Amino acid sequence: MVFTSAVFAALLVVAQATSVPRTADPLETIELAAPDGSIKAHYIPWGASTTNLWVKDKNNNFRDILLGFDNKTWYQDLAKGRDFFSPVVGRYANRIKNGTFTIPPSFDATGPGKKYHIVENENNGTDTLHGGTIGYDQRPWTVTKQTSNSVAFTLLDPNGFQGFPGDVLATVEYTLNSKATLDISMFAVADQLTPIMLSTHNYWNLDAYNDPTNNLVSHVLQAQSPKIVATNGNLIPTGGFVEVEGTPLDFRTAKSVGASINATAPHQYCGTGCTGFDNCFIYDQTNKKEPVVSMWSTTSGIKLDVVTDQVALQVYTCNGIFNASNPIPRKADQGGPNAYYEDHSCIVLEQQGYIDAVNNPQWGYNPIYGPLRDYEWHSTYTFSVVKD
Ligand SMILES: *[C@@H]1O[C@H](CO)[C@@H](O)[C@H](O)[C@H]1NC(C)=O
Ligand SMILES: *[C@@H]1O[C@H](CO)[C@@H](O)[C@H](O)[C@H]1NC(C)=O
Ligand SMILES: *[C@@H]1O[C@H](CO)[C@@H](O)[C@H](O)[C@H]1NC(C)=O
Ligand SMILES: *[C@@H]1O[C@H](CO)[C@@H](O)[C@H](O)[C@H]1NC(C)=O
Ligand SMILES: *[C@@H]1O[C@H](CO)[C@@H](O)[C@H](O)[C@H]1NC(C)=O
Repeated sequence: MVFTSAVFAALLVVAQATSVPRTADPLETIELAAPDGSIKAHYIPWGASTTNLWVKDKNNNFRDILLGFDNKTWYQDLAKGRDFFSPVVGRYANRIKNGTFTIPPSFDATGPGKKYHIVENENNGTDTLHGGTIGYDQRPWTVTKQTSNSVAFTLLDPNGFQGFPGDVLATVEYTLNSKATLDISMFAVADQLTPIMLSTHNYWNLDAYNDPTNNLVSHVLQAQSPKIVATNGNLIPTGGFVEVEGTPLDFRTAKSVGASINATAPHQYCGTGCTGFDNCFIYDQTNKKEPVVSMWSTTSGIKLDVVTDQVALQVYTCNGIFNASNPIPRKADQGGPNAYYEDHSCIVLEQQGYIDAVNNPQWGYNPIYGPLRDYEWHSTYTFSVVKD
């Protein structure tokens, strides 16, 4: 079956007709809570972003553990830069070397397939990050479903926009379930062959900045990953992998994130001159039932376990979030606005595919979707409390 723009438009109209209610203002706050009240969250249609997420700590107090802006216009006008504060990123998450690829994919776009050149928005215009200058984080999604504990957003991404081929109709559905569980499902269909990689770009601080240090030392991470994608000084994949064994990248046994950050300095895993993590970890299991990554705070006691159908995890430890001449004020419920989001005070965990798979077919991971292949993404985030 071949989809056309008209089919997409019809799908969108049908989706809108069943929406209860519709949201017109892209910055309108949508408030959800799980049936048992164990988890609460706020969303905006702009970027299909999560602006706040509250779960209970070990003292039974709710804490807002996602970074964000209290001034919602900053999600749109980029007054504090384009920070990717908890939106959906797409059409192709993460980096694409030289903003170039072929379909079918070939190493460094050197193959005989049709060549595409998309908008380059990083490293002086030498690569593409998160879908280009106007990625899915910078677009008004449509609310197509809303209940007291769930919301679905839909985006029609037109053929040629940012240089990508084909119309894509993308949907994300967030559901807050009892026992502090957040379920996220994404689905996309395309009417031509095109690379698709979506992710959620949530910035976590499990203490809600209610910790005297805010350096992630209290954050313990465990990830079932034996290797990362090898990258150059601009974080562009070079075609191979780095084994984590014997390096600060080894989170197979749980350890402190903050205490591992300084040990990365000689390796510059997050790029030239950078200390911290900004790496694509490949999971060694994808049984879709057991957590592949867990993180908890020894301060708040809040623990996150992630079950996913994705094969990789991008870990970013907020290595360059602080800009002294334009600092980002924290939300009021995180000690703001007179305190700021500092470097290495937060961590992004993106469930996704292999970074730049569209230029690295030797990995055997196919990032091309289209009329005969729909895109799907599903992850479950379960929160609990650990008491020390
Ligand atoms: C929010 O930010 C916008 C743009 O920077 C500014 O014009 C507006 O005054 C701010 N609103 C508040 C309530 O601070
Ligand atoms: C980058 O992409 C452009 C446009 O496709 C191409 O002309 C150029 O050769 C590419 N550069 C490298 C270094 O691959
Ligand atoms: C971008 O260009 C500036 C000015 O030429 C240079 O200082 C900087 O190193 C370049 N950055 C990258 C990532 O190439
Ligand atoms: C990491 O190194 C910096 C700079 O030397 C230091 O200020 C900081 O305390 C160190 N962090 C940890 C967790 O040891
Ligand atoms: C820091 O903020 C200033 C003022 O907005 C801006 O000119 C500068 O480019 C920013 N620096 C970096 C490294 O992003």
